[in-house]
Amino acid sequence: MIRNHIGVGVWSGSVTAAAAVLLVAISAQPASAQTAPAAAGTAVTFAKDVAPVLQKNCQGCHRPGDVAPMSLRTYEEVRPWARSIKAKVVAREMPPYRYDKIGIQHLKDDLRLSERDVQTIVRWVDSGAPLGNLADLPAPIQFPDTNKWTYAEQFGPPDVIVPTKPYTLPAQGQDRWWRPIVPVGVLEDRCIKAMAVKPSLKGRPAAHHANSDLMVPDEKSGSYITLERVSEYASGKTGEIVPPDGCRTLPANAMIRWDVHYWPYGEEVKDDVVELAFWFYPKGHQAKYKQDLKLYTLLMKGGELEIAPHGTAMTQGFHTFKTPVRIDSFQPHGHARLSGMTAEILYPDTGKLEMVSSVSNWTNAWHTSHVYDDDSAPLLPAGAVLVLTGYYDNTAKNKGNPDPDQWVGGGSRTSDEMSHAWITVTHLDDAGYKQILVGREAKASKTTTTTPQDQKQ
Ligand code: HEC
Repeated sequence: MIRNHIGVGVWSGSVTAAAAVLLVAISAQPASAQTAPAAAGTAVTFAKDVAPVLQKNCQGCHRPGDVAPMSLRTYEEVRPWARSIKAKVVAREMPPYRYDKIGIQHLKDDLRLSERDVQTIVRWVDSGAPLGNLADLPAPIQFPDTNKWTYAEQFGPPDVIVPTKPYTLPAQGQDRWWRPIVPVGVLEDRCIKAMAVKPSLKGRPAAHHANSDLMVPDEKSGSYITLERVSEYASGKTGEIVPPDGCRTLPANAMIRWDVHYWPYGEEVKDDVVELAFWFYPKGHQAKYKQDLKLYTLLMKGGELEIAPHGTAMTQGFHTFKTPVRIDSFQPHGHARLSGMTAEILYPDTGKLEMVSSVSNWTNAWHTSHVYDDDSAPLLPAGAVLVLTGYYDNTAKNKGNPDPDQWVGGGSRTSDEMSHAWITVTHLDDAGYKQILVGREAKASKTTTTTPQDQKQ
């Protein structure tokens, strides 16, 4: 409430200052201020055109107390960033969801801007970033209470919450990693319905990412082994629902191995805790199929990952499944030199190779898991080959490259490279596979008459 109140105050109280900034901006850029809007027909203004785009697509992170470095709520806050905003949205680096317009385009929690919204920002910046008519400003957004669990309204309170051990983050300094191992406290196998991760309110601006892996007791060694990635948090995506036809098992006596990446932001955060919540399907839930999240490797020719100084490299992985499967999500993984990864399906019957997903301009600042819409998730018949291809760029052109003079090999240090993808797979049977196909065809034939226009395609 307090935050919203301040928001309103700034909107209405900033008229004079904003108008002054506007005058300076226009006089500094007379040529573009005259040509761009005229060419496009109508003038693009902050109040009418840009504020709604920022509200919908940026303010979720760019507001006080969230992960982004600056707030983008008011004209005063936004104006100094105009050029940088244009550069970032044109390069499709912001919002952070680097997924190409190739292959499957229907994804859950897709943060990408439509081409129209990108053009609105471009035209606005090119015409001197005018404020426009104050009466056009949309009401400030009431953000949901960030302290609430993502699925609280849908599913009620979580069944289990697994917090990190407390961590005190200093006010100043560089990256910090916090990797405590915490028992879940569930003594029998359960089917997960949903998962969500929540940093504390005070720690939120510092907790850039929080990943969690599932560890289970290993009979052979008598100790724990890491089974799979459970969840991956980066603001903007806070949870995942397991499709109702699948059971993703939380095994009995499991532990969570946390990996929280903090970045100090000027204030000490005492005893910070990030939480992971599970909602379960009822005990005895008979899901038809097993869903799992596993690491799928890619290798270089010869088996070794090795990238020459100022060189490039490509890796590939080929994976087949004995039964038909549905791929529910795709998350490339690499370090500073991975620049892109694609997923394709090779159908052995026809020899057809189909592009499913392509992530170019990849950055290890954002380990996004791309979750396909239920009706778009790729289906592989038994024996089809999932072809993963990774591209590495060790040249100076790669903006994220810390040192192009280095040889880079495989390894787990940030300076080494990795080549794999985290993929969620639902393992179907022939009948289930056919049923999904038939269901999709029926839906498709119903919707062809209405033809929904997807702006993003
Ligand atoms: C999921 C959270 C998230 C969303 C959504 C998001 N940003 Fe960001 N943004 C960040 C974070 C975190 C950073 C700083 C780290 C980075 O660059 O990855 C950042 C950095 C930036 C920067 C560069 C700041 C600098 O220091 O140079 C700009 C400009 C920017 N964002 C604009 C936008 C715009 C415009 C939108 C909406 C169209 C947007 N962002 C949406 C999280 C987000």
